[in-house]
Amino acid sequence: MTTHQAPAIHVQGLEKSYNKLEVLRGVDFEVERGSIFALLGSNGAGKTTLVKILSTLLKANSGAAWVNGFDVAAQPGDVRESISLTGQFAAVDEILSGRENLVLIAKLRHLQDAEQIADNLLERFSLTDAAGRKVSTYSGGMRRRLDIAMSLIGNPPVVFLDEPTTGLDPQSRVEVWQAVAELAGQGTTVLLTTQYLEEAEQLADRIAILHKGRIIVDGTLAELKQLLPPAEVEYVEKQPSLEDIFFALVGDAGDNDPTGTGRNPARTN
Ligand SMILES: Nc1ncnc2c1ncn2[C@@H]1O[C@H](COP(=O)(O)OP(=O)(O)O)[C@@H](O)[C@H]1O
Ligand SMILES: [Mg+2]
Repeated sequence: MTTHQAPAIHVQGLEKSYNKLEVLRGVDFEVERGSIFALLGSNGAGKTTLVKILSTLLKANSGAAWVNGFDVAAQPGDVRESISLTGQFAAVDEILSGRENLVLIAKLRHLQDAEQIADNLLERFSLTDAAGRKVSTYSGGMRRRLDIAMSLIGNPPVVFLDEPTTGLDPQSRVEVWQAVAELAGQGTTVLLTTQYLEEAEQLADRIAILHKGRIIVDGTLAELKQLLPPAEVEYVEKQPSLEDIFFALVGDAGDNDPTGTGRNPARTN
C-alpha cells in the first residue's frame, strides 16, 4: 500500500461569482504540509474570496476544497478547528496591552496557563518589551506580529494570512516576514496572499499567481523564473531594489542621520 500524506490544502475546480462577476473560474492547487504557499495576485484578483472559502466564511458555487483533510463544505467545523485566519486588517484590541490581548484569546479558548502561553508568544514574536503597553501605541509591524501571534494560540496546523504586510513600511514588513518564516519553521502550514512579488520571493516554498479567475502559474521560485522570458525576469528582479535603496539610504544599523545626506545614494555594491 502506498501511503501518501494528504496535502494540508487541496483545491479543485473552485468557482465563485458575485452576481454576474466571475471572480474564481476554476482554481486548482495543493499546499504541502509544513510549507509556505504564496498566492500572488493584484488588487481584486480574488485572493480574499479564496481565503474566505477555505476558511468556511463563504461558500463556493462549484468545485471542492479540503483543509487538513476536511471538506470545507461538508465538514466546516473540523476545518475551523484546524485553522486560524489573520485578515487584511489587524484585529487586535487597541485598548488592551499586547499581553492582555493574548491572555484574552487563550482564556476564550479555555487553555490552561493562559499567562504562560502569552509570554511564550510575546517572546517568540519579539514583543516582550512592549508586552505591557496598550496596542494603540504599537507600530503597524508590531500590531501585525501581535495579530499573527494571537492566531497561533491553540496551535492550528494551517494558518491563513491575508495580505499580512499590505500598508506596512519596509522595516515592519521585514519584521513580519521573520515572524512568518518562524511559523513554518515550527511545522505550521502557511497560506499567505500578497500583491508583492518580492514577498512571495522572500517567504514562499511555492508561489501561485491568481489572474482572471485562474491560477496561471504554480511552482517554486526557480521554476517560475524559468517560465518568464528574460526581459520580464529583468523587470521582476529590479523591483526589490527599491527596498534595497531604502535601506541603503535610511541605514539598517541604527544610522540616524535625519537629513539622509550622510550617505552617498549613488554608491553601488
Ligand atoms: N461581497 C462581494 N460582493 C460583490 N463583489 C465582491 C464581494 N467581495 C468581493 N467582490 C469583488 O470580487 C473581486 C475579488 O475581490 P477580492 O477577493 O477581495 O480580491 P483581492 O483580495 O484579491 O483583492 C473584486 O472585484 C471585488 O470587488
Ligand atoms: Mg484581499
